[in-house]
Amino acid sequence: MSLTKLQQDIRQLLKEKKAILLAHYYQRDEIQEIADILGDSLALSMEAARTNAEVLIFAGVHFMAESASILSPGKTVLLPRPDAGCPLADMITPEALGAAKKEHPGAAVVTYINSSAAIKAMSDVCCTSANAVKVIRSLGDVKEILMIPDGNLARYVAGQTDRKIIPWEGYCPVHHFLSAEQVRRTKEKHPRATFAAHPECRQEVLRLADYVGSTTGIIRYAGEEHVREMIVGTEHGIFYQLRKQYPEKIFIPASDQMTCEDMKKITLADIKTALTEMKNVVKVPEDVRIPAKKALERMLAIS
Ligand code: 13P
Ligand code: SF4
Repeated sequence: MSLTKLQQDIRQLLKEKKAILLAHYYQRDEIQEIADILGDSLALSMEAARTNAEVLIFAGVHFMAESASILSPGKTVLLPRPDAGCPLADMITPEALGAAKKEHPGAAVVTYINSSAAIKAMSDVCCTSANAVKVIRSLGDVKEILMIPDGNLARYVAGQTDRKIIPWEGYCPVHHFLSAEQVRRTKEKHPRATFAAHPECRQEVLRLADYVGSTTGIIRYAGEEHVREMIVGTEHGIFYQLRKQYPEKIFIPASDQMTCEDMKKITLADIKTALTEMKNVVKVPEDVRIPAKKALERMLAIS
């Protein structure tokens, strides 16, 4: 693979600053190409917890950099674009969660990693789309579970377990607005294709899926022998990996509207600037970090 001058400059800067570049599968292709660690939210948080690098630069969205800072407070965590947020994470506030906890005393609070540090700090345990079912199954004798903030993920998990789950009505706009009708139309055009979807999609969409899982799960599923042609119900950044890993297979977007604007905010130029100037540091205050770390570490122990 031949790198552009800008990509080479970034690789050089990473070496000089003893830094690693972590990137989510939804990032731009040219960023994925030069990442040290590429993964779904679970893999990125695991790496953030165990790396020896002094500086972590995150090509992802704010909650990912924040989770890295919570887990590794001694390291410098950079987010090249501080305005790269997650609309789903913004769909719950500490005040609203406080009120819900009062309404459901004794409920366990299971929080999707797509949430702010303040929300994690009020939670019992975190989860990602890769381990949500496992996390719920690991909970002992709790009467009910408040699962926040993604209602679609909560409903999907409720269907996989016999626990009483109260879903929060937040959603990821990228996945939520994929309709069953769009999927049916794409299936009609590609009758031999299997359909893989992310659990942030609505139930009516998940019912049409042959496979439901995180981005890593979808990439793994695409590698199965019987999958020759696959309709993809998640953000378009995943196509870079799918086509790179399985060039002989055919991948079709379930809709052409599944692009996360926040994930795409970060450019190579932003990464170079952040590294050069060591700017856009993400740091979580200790009174929030300590309880948030407990919820994240409890999840990592289960994963
Ligand atoms: P995963 O990384 O768990 O697949 O989640 C996708 C997502 O929406 C991240 O923002
Ligand atoms: Fe948030 Fe959805 Fe974008 Fe992921 S894809 S960062 S959940 S808005």
